[in-house]
Amino acid sequence: MNVWTHVLHLVSSGAVAYITARNIRDPLTRPNTLAGFQLAESGSVPFLEALRDRAAKEGDEWLAEKLDRHAADERRHGQIFAHALKQLNKQAIDIQSMRKNKSEKDGKKSDRRSPFFAAFFEGYESAQLKPEAIDWIVFMGSTYILERDASRDFASMANALPEDEAHSANLKKGMLAIANDEIGHAAYLYEALQRRLSPPEVDRVVDRWRERKVNAMLAMVGSFMQGKPQASLVRDGAPTDMEETEETASELTAA
Ligand SMILES: [Fe+2]
Ligand SMILES: [Fe+2]
Repeated sequence: MNVWTHVLHLVSSGAVAYITARNIRDPLTRPNTLAGFQLAESGSVPFLEALRDRAAKEGDEWLAEKLDRHAADERRHGQIFAHALKQLNKQAIDIQSMRKNKSEKDGKKSDRRSPFFAAFFEGYESAQLKPEAIDWIVFMGSTYILERDASRDFASMANALPEDEAHSANLKKGMLAIANDEIGHAAYLYEALQRRLSPPEVDRVVDRWRERKVNAMLAMVGSFMQGKPQASLVRDGAPTDMEETEETASELTAA
């Protein structure tokens, strides 16, 4: 990683930590923030399960077992956020039907890639990122960076929550547990890279995805500064069907 990437990484991480900490503390923005996390965490489950099945088919039992545990953790993370929303008498939108409505209305397939993911996976076609096709090193390197940063971001958000009120105190406990799980995910992904690559190759892969993450953060901040509207991800009322959110697209995968 060059110095410039390193500096940008620190600046963008600090900015995101600041914004997300503020968004989770503020009662007005908390529901949307929680819904975003719920959709991202639950949305990664089908992707990870498909990868688990592929690893098993390819004879990598070690990786299949790690991915199975990873998928179960992300499902639980989604449920923690869903529960926090429910306590506020809110629930996440059904993102699948929202996309379907939008593409029917527009008469075309909606562009599902966020500015972040478009920049993070620049040069990769959607088909190359599907669980049945994705290069294992691409999956491991990219997810390692996302998981590592997610653990730090969730921990700093948790620490921004006050403890003198029940909802915040519960959420804080849940988010610290999630941050801990994300450390475990980053650790097995790093080990997975080490099992397949030499140490200098591992360094190169990690550097490459760190640089892509920095560029993706800048792209996200750029679209934010241009005032692109942010969709509301919550609606009022308690959930009727939790499973629906698990069908959300894998590209929402944050961690
Ligand atoms: Fe997670
Ligand atoms: Fe994770």
